[in-house]
Amino acid sequence: MYTPYQDYIHTLNNTLKYRKLPIFRQEKFSSVLDFSNNDYLGLSQHPKILKEAINAIQIYGMGAKSSRISSIYHPFCDQLETQIALDKKTEAALFFSSGFQANFSVLSAILDRGILGGCPVVFSDRLNHASIYQALLFSQCEWVRYRHLDTKHLQCLLEKYAKDSRPKFIVTETVFGMDGDTAPLKDIHALALKYKTFVYLDEAHATGLFGINGYGCSTLQDWSQVPHIIMGTFSKALGGSGAYIACSKILKEYLINKAQGFIYSTAPSPCVVAAALRAWNLIKTMNKERLHLKSLGESFRKMLTEQGEDIGSSTTHIIPIILKNEESVMEIQHYLGFKHIYISGIRPPTVPPNQARLRIGLKALHTQEDLLRFMQEWKKLRENRIY
Ligand SMILES: Cc1ncc(COP(=O)(O)O)c(C=O)c1O
Repeated sequence: MYTPYQDYIHTLNNTLKYRKLPIFRQEKFSSVLDFSNNDYLGLSQHPKILKEAINAIQIYGMGAKSSRISSIYHPFCDQLETQIALDKKTEAALFFSSGFQANFSVLSAILDRGILGGCPVVFSDRLNHASIYQALLFSQCEWVRYRHLDTKHLQCLLEKYAKDSRPKFIVTETVFGMDGDTAPLKDIHALALKYKTFVYLDEAHATGLFGINGYGCSTLQDWSQVPHIIMGTFSKALGGSGAYIACSKILKEYLINKAQGFIYSTAPSPCVVAAALRAWNLIKTMNKERLHLKSLGESFRKMLTEQGEDIGSSTTHIIPIILKNEESVMEIQHYLGFKHIYISGIRPPTVPPNQARLRIGLKALHTQEDLLRFMQEWKKLRENRIY
């Protein structure tokens, strides 16, 4: 009965694609230089957020007790959603337990063939996140992939479908989690207007860091003329967990009645929502941290390019070092771990074939000295031809 699963694991092992969970090590809290997580603003440890979460537990208890459809036992969801809608300049917002759950349930709900009266056509950036892929697969839409960030290619494809009267959607991340580059939102907005498409944006890696007061890249654009949904997470720069959907009032109503991951799942814990609300209100005060992160990114990219590394098209705090060879990626990750430098090794299928990489996630708590420490070890790796 277990044989097919065992065979699958053997195959992964033979092709170097086997994934292992990291082991907790206490020294993480001392001398470790950690580039492996997404706590970009260091908010997972912010005292004001921790205090808010603890208060919420003390008053409202640990669990949410039921789906939000059945009952609600605290005021934080309404407060948070009102604030998000204000800052994202949308009519409404809705909080979900995780980014994956939000992408999967919201996209499957809005792409529902029964509701739309036919099969929608979805134009999706080739490097969109797995949660988007899963939703598109599940919805059985006609799925048209365009080359990463390539709006000329997107336009060609839209033109090809111009006479097709089925509902059309463009789906993209705004800051790409594995490449650290940004979607050309102005062009996408113009194409959406011209070809009358819906736009779905995933701001998981942009929320807290980009746009007006850190509220995401979408805030730099007026979306009122384009039907749209903007999703973002609390699990990266906001240091907690959960995700928001910013949208029109009617879409919020629709999602409450249709999004399976919202209806059939216990609501997020009160402490999670209280922490998310505090973090959301804090990020507007964090311009200094955003500027520091920007300047760290610029320095690091310069250092790595001078060293001859391929960092793809990164322009943000996320910097890939693309080595292609999966074995080298895992060896280097392991080697740097011994030196107390944590970095993520990313292999296909998370990235396309031949694009295996080390992924650096910079944080506002990092310093120029940290970058130099990394580069020192990196140069040793090069000199010793460890890869
Ligand atoms: C672009 C993108 N969207 C969605 C998600 C899922 O978010 P969460 O971790 O909150 O489930 C991630 C997480 O890595 C992501 O990178």
